[in-house]
Amino acid sequence: MRKYIVAGNWKMNGTLEETQILASEVVNMYNDEVNNGVVAVLCPPFIGIAEVLRLTRGSEVKAGAQNCHQELSGAFTGEVSAPILASFGVNYVIIGHSERREYFGEENALLAKKVDQAQANQLIPIYCCGETLSQREGGAHFQVIEQQVKEGLFHLNAEKLQQTVIAYEPVWAIGTGKTASAEQAQEIHAFIRSLIAITYGSDVADSISILYGGSVKPTNAAELFAMADIDGGLIGGAALKSRDFIDICKAVPA
Ligand code: PGA
Repeated sequence: MRKYIVAGNWKMNGTLEETQILASEVVNMYNDEVNNGVVAVLCPPFIGIAEVLRLTRGSEVKAGAQNCHQELSGAFTGEVSAPILASFGVNYVIIGHSERREYFGEENALLAKKVDQAQANQLIPIYCCGETLSQREGGAHFQVIEQQVKEGLFHLNAEKLQQTVIAYEPVWAIGTGKTASAEQAQEIHAFIRSLIAITYGSDVADSISILYGGSVKPTNAAELFAMADIDGGLIGGAALKSRDFIDICKAVPA
């Protein structure tokens, strides 16, 4: 069966001190309070990863990166490769976040290569998709999601696809305080799962965790996570507060 995952995307936040405080608080609170089996993942900026790994060692809390380069190594100043991340002990990597797509011009074909490079190095990609407000208002959201999911992931064989996590993050809900309703999110999650089922079969589709992201908070997490096809969350703003992040972890059904 698929796992519930709650991943904190810290984005460009986390000085050394903030990283130490937040990671230690999350580990302590997770140990004391969380017993529903949820996989908690902290994704700080690259430079904070080693510190997060040190502070989470021996705990159930995992570390992830927010991006990786598509090539194995080489002259790519400022970039970080999947083998480097893996060598430090990173488990997950977010691929194709809408901010990477919007501000760094990352498109599906490139993201497919990043997914491959991540997997070739035993990292679990958290592949993001999601429509903008104008795409939703224009009724194009299903088509956009289908294209993002197919072009980013459907070159994988069934075994590799099962080793990915998908995150649906409507761009209009990210950092805006506007959450998709549980029904709106469920509709898209079920659609993504049906796309997978059509091509790979329902066993494969049922085994993949599909996370919701976009203004998830302790107050709305339980309702979202209760939906049949929502298997946890990718959390931005609320992941910067240990209390909120842990309360979101606790909102996963036991
Ligand atoms: P948010 O961000 O929770 O602040 O809306 C989610 C994300 O971008 O992953």
